[in-house]
Amino acid sequence: ALGRPLNNVEILITAGPTREKIDPVRYFTNHSSGKMGYAIAEMAEKLGANVTLITGPTSLTPPEFVTTIQIESAQEMYDRVIELYPKSDVVIKSAAVADYRPINTYEQKLKKQNDDLHIKMERTTDILKELGKLKTHQLLVGFAAETNNVEEYAKKKLATKNLDLIVANNVTYEGAGFGTDTNIVTIYDRNQVSLELPLLTKQEVAKHLLEKVHVLLKGAR
Ligand code: PMT
Repeated sequence: ALGRPLNNVEILITAGPTREKIDPVRYFTNHSSGKMGYAIAEMAEKLGANVTLITGPTSLTPPEFVTTIQIESAQEMYDRVIELYPKSDVVIKSAAVADYRPINTYEQKLKKQNDDLHIKMERTTDILKELGKLKTHQLLVGFAAETNNVEEYAKKKLATKNLDLIVANNVTYEGAGFGTDTNIVTIYDRNQVSLELPLLTKQEVAKHLLEKVHVLLKGAR
């Protein structure tokens, strides 16, 4: 038995990719499968937390006893996260949110032209950054998917987004990152303590991350 160390803790988790619409049949997205976020949601529930999962489109089955909210775009994810933020104790942002979306979307299918097609993109809202600004009592956990300078970029995100923990993911390692059942991450906190984990299943990564969350929550209470 795992015990229920996260009893009565409200945890909000985001997972999966977003879809940024071009026209009724096309969109921009990324390779996130949702496996990392779903593993965290499932493990948090097992550890006793009240879990809400906000997820982009994936082929995964929503975990049992977890309130699952399906969204498509970064804007939809933002709206739901902001709505649920005040009553959350912990927010874990494992979703791969689009940084850009098309400025114009088309209500009819775009027809092929002989010319090149140019699609102008604009920035989406950085959800995590907003949460950092609006933070009252919440423990805020971000992810950083990087291909280079992983430690430097991760620590920068921890500081600039006002996070409590960041999970750094070098997505170029075999067995790490998008789509795989395993991951290789290092977790950084604000006291220069880092936890470098070996290749583990996403379930095991989730367990280590939630243990760290539990320790920080105990410290605050
Ligand atoms: O879903 P899987 O296939 O299991 O893959 C797991 C994963 C690789 C997606 C996951 O482990 C991971 O690293 N997720 C974060 C991916 C990401 O978008 O990283 P980023 O460095 O671009 O973003 C940094 C943080 O800001 C993330 O917590 C992200 O959720 C958040 N963000 C980003 C953009 C945006 N507009 N709003 C955000 O909140």
